[in-house]
Amino acid sequence: MNFELSEEQLAVRDAARDFAQNVLKPGVIERDNEQRFPAEEIKQLGELGFMGMMVDPKYGGSGMDTISYVLAMEELSKIDASTSVCVSVNNSLVCWGIETFGTEEQKQKYLRPLATGEKIGAFCLSEPEAGSDATSQRTTAIDMGDHYLLNGTKNWITNGSSASVYIVIAQTDADKGHRGINAVIVERGMDGFIVGAKEDKMGIRGSDTHTLMFQDVKVPKENRIGEDGFGFKFAMKTLSGGRIGIAAQALGIASGSLEFATAYSKERKAFGKEISKHQAIAFKLADMATDVEAARLLCLKAAWLKDNKKNYDQASAMAKLYASTAAMKHSVEAVQIHGGYGFVKEYHVERLMRDAKITQIYEGTSEVQKIVISRGLLAE
Ligand code: CAA
Repeated sequence: MNFELSEEQLAVRDAARDFAQNVLKPGVIERDNEQRFPAEEIKQLGELGFMGMMVDPKYGGSGMDTISYVLAMEELSKIDASTSVCVSVNNSLVCWGIETFGTEEQKQKYLRPLATGEKIGAFCLSEPEAGSDATSQRTTAIDMGDHYLLNGTKNWITNGSSASVYIVIAQTDADKGHRGINAVIVERGMDGFIVGAKEDKMGIRGSDTHTLMFQDVKVPKENRIGEDGFGFKFAMKTLSGGRIGIAAQALGIASGSLEFATAYSKERKAFGKEISKHQAIAFKLADMATDVEAARLLCLKAAWLKDNKKNYDQASAMAKLYASTAAMKHSVEAVQIHGGYGFVKEYHVERLMRDAKITQIYEGTSEVQKIVISRGLLAE
């Protein structure tokens, strides 16, 4: 077993680290306060090749592996999970979904600008009454011959108002249950497509999360991804890879918490010495470091399985479950180590603590990950 990263992978990690520390960090507190989308930062990430990391260069992507993607997601998320969720949704859910299952025309029209970062994508599955229970889609895409007539509401959509390309999951034939669901590509500006209210969130406040409404939107037939009725499986397969990205985001929040807490504990003195020299703090750091390492190995294992064309459904669910639990637990510990300073915005860890929570909720709650893991286990 070889744990060594290649020179290329290390270069990607270092480039993401530089970007996070030098470009994202200076404005991250302000963007969080103002709930401001990192438009300029995303544009720059696109120019550096981070918006279509795994996309084939013939479609404008960077042609990197999933391991590089995990390394980049960790570094970006140590500082700014609002930016990294945009990167993750664009890469894993939208670009990967279109590249893997889309037609050549869809790739030329939609994938290329998404991979270069010229356009941003969104993935629209969740509904007011279909969160974890994703088969219960109420949004309908009725087959009208040459187009689908789309009606319904989607909730909690990341990149809701900043995206231009939306993959929407909708029910075409209710009698067929999950086999009657389709995934269609909707463009910003199509008649009847309304971007609704922006959510005022606890964390990832720089990312724009919206409700979307579809009122008799005519979606051309050629915008359907895959065969008729493939939409639910498309969503499940896409989310399985997406979970590697969110696991890496959670890993970044946990390892960022560790880095901030370690640095602070070496500076702050109490009872006559640096607090890192008190065993109560040193043991907390040891626990954090152990969990961060375990989460990192789970993320890299899931990425390796994906890169090697092996099944990664359980591995990605395990990585997300473990890393998001670690992110929540250790961002709280990082605040504790900072004491009163941890409770104010200037020290970053309070934001990491607020950002951590969503990693246990989106792209499947922790309970959904346990369903995926246990079903895989019991089916063996
Ligand atoms: N790959 C391929 N097919 C899959 C699959 C996978 N990974 N997982 C399930 N399927 C197939 C099953 O084989 C089955 O097909 P057949 O009947 O033909 O055999 C079909 O899909 C239905 O599967 P289940 O019976 O397992 O479905 P279920 O209703 O029991 O649900 C679930 C399973 C795991 C709970 C699923 O509903 C789920 O993942 N829910 C969570 C959805 C989610 O992650 N939402 C997040 C929204 S997106 C988001 O957050 C993005 C963002 O903005 C950040």
